[in-house]
Amino acid sequence: MKFLLIGKNGQVGWELSHSLSKLGNVFALGRSELDLSMPETLGAIIQDIRPDIIINAAAYTAVDKAESEPDLAMTVNGISPGVIAREAKKIGAGMIHYSTDYVFDGKATSPYKEESPTYPLNIYGKSKLAGEQAVIQVGIPHIIIRTSWVYSLRGSNFLLTIKKLAQTRKQIKVVDDQTGAPTWAGSIAEGTKRILEKSLTKSTKAEKLFIGSGVFHMSCSGKTNWFGFANKILEFSGLSKNTELIPIPTTAYTTPAVRPKYSRLSNKKLKQVFNQEMPKWQDALHQCLDLPSN
Ligand SMILES: NC(=O)c1ccc[n+]([C@@H]2O[C@H](COP(=O)([O-])OP(=O)(O)OC[C@H]3O[C@@H](n4cnc5c(N)ncnc54)[C@H](OP(=O)(O)O)[C@@H]3O)[C@@H](O)[C@H]2O)c1
Repeated sequence: MKFLLIGKNGQVGWELSHSLSKLGNVFALGRSELDLSMPETLGAIIQDIRPDIIINAAAYTAVDKAESEPDLAMTVNGISPGVIAREAKKIGAGMIHYSTDYVFDGKATSPYKEESPTYPLNIYGKSKLAGEQAVIQVGIPHIIIRTSWVYSLRGSNFLLTIKKLAQTRKQIKVVDDQTGAPTWAGSIAEGTKRILEKSLTKSTKAEKLFIGSGVFHMSCSGKTNWFGFANKILEFSGLSKNTELIPIPTTAYTTPAVRPKYSRLSNKKLKQVFNQEMPKWQDALHQCLDLPSN
């Protein structure tokens, strides 16, 4: 099995580059080898490698910056995934693509299902939704994995920001009225690997590669808000004594992009189709920080 992994240096891409190697040959490319802001260049690269499955973990993920760079965000997140899918179709390949809880408007009070109506509040969410639709429209075997609040020990994310601030600040103000589920990139890579293990058959025909094409939600289980997440980060990192966390409402922390108030994702379909449970967000955080098990 030949995999083309796009976005090898991102949080999810980096974890995938390790977990996928157990399943086959992985051709892992970063931005310097494959640039999603240049959709016209993608065909030649994909046709040269001729993978069985393309996994796109690259994305324009700067949620606030996207408000001032809507065209770039739309090209990278909305247009290029469709180009990749069309190239996959030419060679009979399947595709795994990642999307976000930010396709929802946050007005729900119970976890969003895959078929819940989408209504993104910001440019990033709109561009990611366009990417989902572009992939689906091509009609290849595909799995689109929506996840939320991704963190890891690399890149820029909430975990590393809080740990860094705790080194220098006595107090950190954190929003406490947005509800969701922090998800470790390692849990997403493991979940993706398990989907592939369940789906792959000995056949090299792409249509046999996936049990059921479609959108799947994959977030760590449980729920919290950013304040609650920050609290656990400090507790697990042994930094609670140094720094006081102060809860604030979203209205006191204005950002260019509006974020959904509630973006929990239901993992029920993942369980039904792939018999897969996601770890509790606290356990995944523990594992990410490489702490000894309880
Ligand atoms: N981060 C989150 O909180 C979050 C939440 C929900 C869903 N997701 C989704 O989960 C997936 C993985 O996200 P992540 O957190 O792993 O993202 P990430 O850490 O920000 O990594 C994104 C990767 O995409 C690459 N990239 C950006 N623009 C590119 C371009 N024009 N051409 C090629 N590569 C480009 C980046 O390259 P460089 O290394 O060169 O910058 C980076 O390696 C994405 O689909 C994202 O939308 C993320």
